[in-house]
Amino acid sequence: MIEVREALKWIQNGARRVDILKGISLTIPAGQFVAIVGASGSGKSTLLGLLAGLDSPSSGEIWLDGVPIHNLAEAQLAAVRGRKIGFVFQSYQLIPTLTALENVLLPFELNCEGSGLKKARELLESVGLVERMDHYPVQLSGGEQQRVAIARAFVVEPPIIMADEPTGNLDSTNGRMILDLLLEHNKRAGTTLVLVTHDPEVASTADRKIVLRDGRIVEDTLPYEPEAAAEQAQHG
Ligand SMILES: Nc1ncnc2c1ncn2[C@@H]1O[C@H](COP(=O)(O)OP(=O)(O)O)[C@@H](O)[C@H]1O
Ligand SMILES: [Mg+2]
Repeated sequence: MIEVREALKWIQNGARRVDILKGISLTIPAGQFVAIVGASGSGKSTLLGLLAGLDSPSSGEIWLDGVPIHNLAEAQLAAVRGRKIGFVFQSYQLIPTLTALENVLLPFELNCEGSGLKKARELLESVGLVERMDHYPVQLSGGEQQRVAIARAFVVEPPIIMADEPTGNLDSTNGRMILDLLLEHNKRAGTTLVLVTHDPEVASTADRKIVLRDGRIVEDTLPYEPEAAAEQAQHG
């Protein structure tokens, strides 16, 4: 479903080349919940940006659902991204001049036919914000803004959700609520979830944990499964 082949990302800083991702290869099957962890500056956001088609690799390939997105022009990339990916950012990224409802509706209006009003209302209801639909982002708390962002990420029913430290600006109670909503929606919709997180506890709830260090994958593990381990022990 998502395939990365030998992706490198560097930026040219005057005469100097700064390597940010130093050769990433990975395959994420449809429906998997993957946590990406690693120290600040290890390349997590850069990698997520490549997976989401928000940015292009300097070399290497990114395939989304069999479509090579590494050399698409921005207009085509925007179309693929709009239909396939819902994104939740650490800083919410709501449009300040639009109400909560209008923010949730926007991706639908840009990418889908017909009216998304019913869907948008249902999603806002499911994140507990139906009575605040007409509020502007500035009138909402951080946790409420992130709940709007979750509704927005799901409105086109994308097969993939990507979240970059979605609880990074929230206190632990609101952070917990956001994660629960994200996981609950994801489970219900059966989507692929790629989550960048600092929180080891959150990472341990994922199907798979990928650890980045200095632009490379240094660990890629499935969580411990007692049944599989017992079976392996039994059969050698
Ligand atoms: N546009 C850029 N210009 C210069 N350096 C960048 C740029 N984007 C990212 N970097 C650097 O690349 C490294 C990885 O960044 P990032 O992907 O944001 O890491 P993380 O999300 O793991 O904290 C950092 O050292 C960061 O400073
Ligand atoms: Mg980051």
